[in-house]
Amino acid sequence: MQTKKLFLAAAVAAGMVITASAGGNADLVKEGEKIFNTKKIGNCLACHAVNGKKIDNPGNLGPKLQGLSVWPEQALYDKIYNPYTTNPISAMPPFGLNGVLSDHQIKAVVAYLKTIK
Ligand code: HEC
Repeated sequence: MQTKKLFLAAAVAAGMVITASAGGNADLVKEGEKIFNTKKIGNCLACHAVNGKKIDNPGNLGPKLQGLSVWPEQALYDKIYNPYTTNPISAMPPFGLNGVLSDHQIKAVVAYLKTIK
């Protein structure tokens, strides 16, 4: 019983370290999540479900987003800025190229995507 409690405490502490290390850009992550989920701005959820997140009726034109935490930030940025560079026939709009999202907004979305396991 005691060991179990200790283990739990350790797990919670470890979780806090992970959150704290991302804490520097916690606001950016929040902002990115909002853009991601807001129809009038990013509307990413029109085409993407997100691993482990409850989103009402996500679209499935694009792949379910998962494992993005291992992507380099630049690759995520480029994907959102202009998906045609990696996939010339992508159905995903070039959010940076077409001016829908600003540089700062894309960086916020990238910060959010980096939290997706
Ligand atoms: C009109 C539908 C559509 C919208 C809106 C859309 N995407 Fe996509 N997305 C796609 C499709 C289709 C693909 C797969 C083809 C490709 O890789 O280009 C994709 C691929 C991706 C990938 C690569 C995923 C992987 O596992 O390879 C990421 C990351 C991504 N989208 C992020 C976003 C973000 C962030 C937004 C909002 C700013 C967004 N998408 C909005 C359709 C969309």
